[in-house]
Amino acid sequence: MRTQVGIIGAGPAGLLLSHLLHLRGISSVVLERRSRAYVERRVRAGVLEQGTVDTLVEAGVGARLLREGLPHDGIELRYGGAAHRIAFEKLVPGRRITVYGQQEVVKDLIAARLEAGGDLRFEVEDVAVHDPAGAPYLTFGGERLDCEVIAGCDGFHGVSRPSIPEGVLSVFERDYPFAWLGVLARVRPSAEELIYARDERGFALHSMRSPEVSRFYLQVPPDADVADWPDERVWAELRARLETIPGFALETGEIIEKGVTPMRAFVAEPMQYGRLYLAGDSAHIVPPTGAKGLNLAVADVRTLTEALAAYFGTGSADLLDGYSAACLRRVWRAQHFSWWMTTLLHTFADEDAYARRLQLSHLDYVTSSAAAATTLAENYVGLS
Ligand code: APR
Ligand code: PHB
Repeated sequence: MRTQVGIIGAGPAGLLLSHLLHLRGISSVVLERRSRAYVERRVRAGVLEQGTVDTLVEAGVGARLLREGLPHDGIELRYGGAAHRIAFEKLVPGRRITVYGQQEVVKDLIAARLEAGGDLRFEVEDVAVHDPAGAPYLTFGGERLDCEVIAGCDGFHGVSRPSIPEGVLSVFERDYPFAWLGVLARVRPSAEELIYARDERGFALHSMRSPEVSRFYLQVPPDADVADWPDERVWAELRARLETIPGFALETGEIIEKGVTPMRAFVAEPMQYGRLYLAGDSAHIVPPTGAKGLNLAVADVRTLTEALAAYFGTGSADLLDGYSAACLRRVWRAQHFSWWMTTLLHTFADEDAYARRLQLSHLDYVTSSAAAATTLAENYVGLS
């Protein structure tokens, strides 16, 4: 079996790449170890930058997103007993974010690929990368797929990055001393916008998926176990951290999903080796506080598509050779922004009273200086 681009992973990166390549007349095969139902149900983040929305709409997979996605023109920072709005419409006119669950993006992309007759294979076993710097090919479940190029879109725990020989990659990482407990609840949002709450008990985030479904996160210890978080405890803790301004009451309802996500940052450089290119979480992870993970994956794929279109169209490998450098600038900007948001809003076990006062002073600055608020807003809605 032979294809132009062998893609490992059917997350947003792999699926979007396969779709964009198809629009350019480039063939691909997507190999995914999980089932279709599993990847369509996996609950992840849900904030799309304008550039991400534009990419999906231009690619013809944005109809449901435009119908059901929730456009937001601001977010709230809540701390010290007060609410402070970061107004995108004023600070970064014409740019906004759209709240739409990542698994909905995945569903839309899978539907589009299948409708176009795309070759998506779920539940494939033992995918392995061979000869990435020579004549690359993939093996899986006893089959062989010869490729001109391989795209490693298999997330942080995939096989593509570890297939790069030792000594080639430089790795940069940081583990945060806490995790996020994420909760999906069948209840209408308690506010119209996202609320990022900094509280002495820890960070909390109020988000949403639809007018009937809310999404919440709580900062928890790094080794937290969902078993220790029965629904009543989740609601009590969310109330304690969010019901901190006059007149705000948290709506509660049935919890339909619960999970703990470790908070880590990770970058592997370069994002390529021979004819193997890494995109999305396989190359970099950001803590979710800046809502950048999915958007970075989409931006990588956009860059890789242009490079592959040039390569297959004209034979020029210039853009492919510059792929990693082109992505890493944006990746590191997002790393810095995500670190900054995380540091601004979480409590750190080892911090003293002085550090806490500094954090509050920093929040006061961000919410009172137009320059500082604009920095937050323009990074949040996306620079691309
Ligand atoms: N073989 C085949 N598929 C694999 C393998 C493997 N060995 N290892 C992992 N995969 C699959 C996973 O099952 C998953 O479906 O690769 C896919 C990777 O998808 P994601 O983890 O969603 O990563 P990506 O597409 O880069 O999307 C980045 O996901 O984690 C979030 O915050 C992140 O929103 C960002 C987005
Ligand atoms: C989400 O809605 O899942 C979400 C929103 C904002 C974030 C992270 C996750 O920063």
